[in-house]
Order: sequence, then C-alpha cells, then structure tokens
Amino acid sequence: MSKVIFLTGDHRSADSTDGLAAGAPHGPGEPLLDARRRPLHDLRISVTDRCNFRCTYCMPREVFDADYTFMPHSALLSFEEITRVAGVAVQMGVRKLRLTGGEPLLRKNIEVLIGMLAALRTPDGKPVDITLTTNGTLLEKKAAALKQAGLARVTVSLDALDEHKFERMSDSRVSVETVLRGIDEAARVGLAPVKVNMVVRKDLNDDQILPMARHFRGSGHILRFIEFMDVGDSNGWNLSEVLTGAEILQRIAAEFPLEPAQAAYRGEVAARWRYADGAGEIGLITSVSQPFCGDCTRARLSPEGKLFLCLFASQGHDLRSLLRGGAGDEEIAARIAAIWSGRGDHYSELRGRETAQRKKIEMSYIGG
Ligand code: GTP
Ligand code: 5AD
Ligand code: SF4
Ligand code: SF4
Repeated sequence: MSKVIFLTGDHRSADSTDGLAAGAPHGPGEPLLDARRRPLHDLRISVTDRCNFRCTYCMPREVFDADYTFMPHSALLSFEEITRVAGVAVQMGVRKLRLTGGEPLLRKNIEVLIGMLAALRTPDGKPVDITLTTNGTLLEKKAAALKQAGLARVTVSLDALDEHKFERMSDSRVSVETVLRGIDEAARVGLAPVKVNMVVRKDLNDDQILPMARHFRGSGHILRFIEFMDVGDSNGWNLSEVLTGAEILQRIAAEFPLEPAQAAYRGEVAARWRYADGAGEIGLITSVSQPFCGDCTRARLSPEGKLFLCLFASQGHDLRSLLRGGAGDEEIAARIAAIWSGRGDHYSELRGRETAQRKKIEMSYIGG
C-alpha cells in the first residue's frame, strides 16, 4: 500500500521576504544581495530565440508562424561577449551557468562557447558548474562534443512518451525515440545525472505522468514535473489547466511510495522526492501552487544582451551597449551590481489579477 503524501510547507529553506533591506552596498568579498537579500548565484544564458519545436505552452504556432520575426544574427551577443559578461558575473559570485534558448543546440558551434565558459575561474580559482537545457533533438549527435568541451550536465524537455501526445505538445515531427536516444547518449558520455523536464498541462498530457514515472524509474535519470506557467503573453494560460505538484505527487505515490528528500542546494527549484524502494528520485516544480521566489538567485541574459531579473519580467537591462561601447570589466560589474541590488522581483508570489495585465517576455526568448 502506498503512503499518502501531502506537499505541505516548503522544505526548500525559503528565506523570509519580510523586513526588506535595500540591496546592500557590495564590498570586496561580500556577497552581492538584491533588495530582498537574495544573492546572485546563477546566470542563465539564452543563446538564441529560435527553436525547431512549437510547444503549445511556449511557442504556439499561431504566434510563432512563418511571418514571425526572430532576432537577426548581428543582434545576438557573440561568444566573446557572452563569455565576458559571464566572467564578470563569476567574479561577482555567480557559480552556475545554464545555457538555454529557444533551443541552444541550434546555435552554431555552441561547444566552442562551452569551452570558453569552462575556462572561467572563480576568485578562488575554481571552475563553475555549466549546464544546458535542450529539447533533445540534436543531443544524440552533439552529446560527446558538449561533454568534451566542459559541459557538466544536461536537462532535456520531454512531455510525453506516447507519440501522438508528444506531437501535440511539441507540435513537431520529431519522434519520442529521437529524444530518448539523446537522453541515453548524454548519460553514456557522462552528462549525468540527466534531468528530464515534463510540463504538465491538464487534459492534454496528464495521462502521461504515470507512464513517464514508470519509464524513468530506475534509469538513473531524474524526472521533474513542472506546473504549466503563465510565462509570456502568447500561450493562453489558464489556471484551470494547471495540475498542481501535490496532485501529481498523489498520482505517483498511489503506485510508488515516495519519501521527501532534502534540497541538493539552497534555492533549488525542484522539490525532491525519492522512491521508497530505491529506484531513484523525482522533482516537482511548483511555481504556481508553491512559489519559490524567496530563494531565487537567478539572473537571465537574453540573446541580445539584456539582463532580466525574473522569468516574468516585462523589461530587461541592456548590457550590449556597454559591451560594444568599450566599457571595462569594472564598469560592467558596477552596472550588474546596480541592477541586481535594485531587484525586488517575486512575481510568482504575487500572481493574480494585477499581474495578469502585465506584459511579459516570452520563455522562448529568455529560456526556461
Ligand atoms: P538544476 O537543479 O541545476 O538542474 O537546475 P534547475 O532545477 O534550475 O533546472 P532547469 O533549468 O531545468 O529548470 C527547470 C524548470 O523550472 C525551467 O524550465 C522552468 O520551467 C522552471 N524554472 C526554473 N527557474 C525558474 C524560476 O526562476 N522561476 C520560475 N517560476 N520557474 C523557474
Ligand atoms: N510552463 C512551464 N514550463 C515551461 N517551459 C517553457 N514554457 C513553460 C510553461 N509555460 C519550460 C519547460 C521546458 C523549458 C525549456 O522551459 O521546462 O522544458
Ligand atoms: Fe522550444 Fe523548449 Fe519552447 Fe518547446 S519549450 S518551444 S522545445 S524552447
Ligand atoms: Fe525568480 Fe521570478 Fe521565478 Fe520568482 S517568479 S522564482 S523571482 S524568476
């Protein structure tokens, strides 16, 4: 018989967001804090706004059609410019870099960028953690080169095992088998543990929760279920289509007993649960039902060099004009410090009628 599990409280060591202090001035060796006292720890770098999928929750084809204007190549930050921003950010406390898109493997010679990022060192001489989120289409072909360039791990999006459901979710002709082969190849070359992200949309793919759980149990890969979010302005989000993390957990626990596991690190996005029989773990990403803004240490760099402070932001802060205008590293660092110390974003904690009116950037532009 399975244990009944409720997703209560937040075992992700949330920080209090009361009693806000203005972002503290940041001296040498002191962590750079935002206005809610959150450090800058992760930089997520979107390298392209293009993708070969048209996932309904991210790039619906009605909006991202043949007439949609993507960014011209000249607008994109070069690998040197990205590495420069990342290098400055690492000097300021960033310890994790994640490449996203669109689909990052569509950016030509991405492994060259990974090699450049892998050469960065923290002030005490250590390399940083470099990861990448992909839809898996090109992964089988590229996994070995990515690993060799210095990538540590990958996260692969996969929303269904059933071909028909997968085609409906991704609105592509790519087969489930192609993505599964990409996942296995990534694990084989050591980009492990591979995390698999499944966005759950009620009545569209929620019947895939158990098949996905059964498939990935015991595989060494970590399956994470993501609540459908109101990112961007084009996915027609509606709360009635959100299956909460607690409901997802109940369904899995009814077949496989689960136990809560400690967060792997402070501010981890996914709440972790272990199969009681030792067959591995799953994660729940509950931005809608249980926001995790209190510990959000993530900044996002857009393909053309704007720094965004929240996945749901309306605007970013331009760094490209500094990069292309001859600014020195100190000037770039000062700009990032000024931007981060003024950050008060906590969108998921505010989500409601007021925020529904806000114009938001698209996920395909800023990354997952
Ligand atoms: P690792 O623990 O290193 O694997 O990183 P991660 O958990 O951040 O993984 P990943 O980048 O795959 O994030 C998983 C998903 O969580 C993303 O695709 C988003 O859907 C969601 N997510 C990540 N960061 C945020 C965030 O800051 N806010 C919100 N609302 N959702 C986020
Ligand atoms: N809701 C939740 N997650 C989303 N992603 C994109 N759009 C959404 C959304 N509306 C995430 C998925 C995907 C990654 C690239 O972005 O996790 O795997
Ligand atoms: Fe592409 Fe990922 Fe968006 Fe799907 S979720 S359209 S794979 S960027
Ligand atoms: Fe961070 Fe914004 Fe997501 Fe909250 S909603 S966790 S502040 S990115």
